[in-house]
Amino acid sequence: MEKKHLIEEINKLKDKRKAIILAHLYQVDEVQEIADYSGDSLELSKKAAETEAQIIVFCGVKFMAETAKILSPAKTVLLPALDAGCPMAEMVEREDVIKLKENNPHAAVVCYVNSSAEVKAVSDYCCTSANAIRLVKNIPEEEIIFIPDRNLGSYVAKHVPEKKMILWDGFCNTHHRIMEQDIEKIKELNLDVPILVHPECKPEVLAKADFVGSTSQILKYARESLSQNLVVGTEMGILYRLKKENPDKNIYLLSPKLVCSNMKKTRLEDIYNVLDTLENQIEVDAEVRRKALLALNRMLDFC
Ligand code: 13P
Ligand code: SF4
Repeated sequence: MEKKHLIEEINKLKDKRKAIILAHLYQVDEVQEIADYSGDSLELSKKAAETEAQIIVFCGVKFMAETAKILSPAKTVLLPALDAGCPMAEMVEREDVIKLKENNPHAAVVCYVNSSAEVKAVSDYCCTSANAIRLVKNIPEEEIIFIPDRNLGSYVAKHVPEKKMILWDGFCNTHHRIMEQDIEKIKELNLDVPILVHPECKPEVLAKADFVGSTSQILKYARESLSQNLVVGTEMGILYRLKKENPDKNIYLLSPKLVCSNMKKTRLEDIYNVLDTLENQIEVDAEVRRKALLALNRMLDFC
């Protein structure tokens, strides 16, 4: 089908099904373009929880669609690319968390939303990169088991030194591709360009950046920045929104290696197909959902 026609058909089906299309900021441009709402994982979780639409087409990776289902169990959540996973989310399993809890009985488990529903179900709190520091600072527990991202965990630990942080060894293989030298090379040019990075980057990268934030926090920084030029160190999909919101600024990607192949799996054809067939429904076991919801709600109460 020709692209223009495909978009018309998607919109027709969306109206017929009373569906909403949510897209993460790392999705390909044309998917962000047709989405009703695009945002970071925290914003999308909130949107999924409050929408009145009966069907949510979640253009992102599996843990995000699962989160939407946990928050809105009565709704149908469709993941257009069923094989779009997050390698970091798969680096920790339920059994790992149970063992960590046994070894650290006084610690609370704070689980990055990039995790499976089963892992959330054995965690005390969820967080995203947008609220991790605030959450860890404000919860009463002094000892925190932080899973699965060791980089976000050590970034939080640096900002909340009063708490004891026990970190898991997970990481995002996309953000890990950024090297300290990538930043040094730009700094050596003395261009006075702010470099903005996501907290999933390595600590030595975060230490050299001018701003560290979640995707929505990077967008906010860019909108408010007086600088004409900006360098961004997160997945390249963010450039779509950054350029749209800042047409007069020059925005550069820190490294061409910043591509998450899983985020790039969703195509317009996949969105059309799930709206047409209602296939690729995300289901979460009722007991897992009940427990995971407690951890997610504790996070949502904080923001
Ligand atoms: P955000 O929480 O900033 O949306 O990031 C999600 C993610 O997958 C980062 O790699
Ligand atoms: Fe997972 Fe990294 Fe891709 Fe985000 S960018 S979905 S953390 S692999």
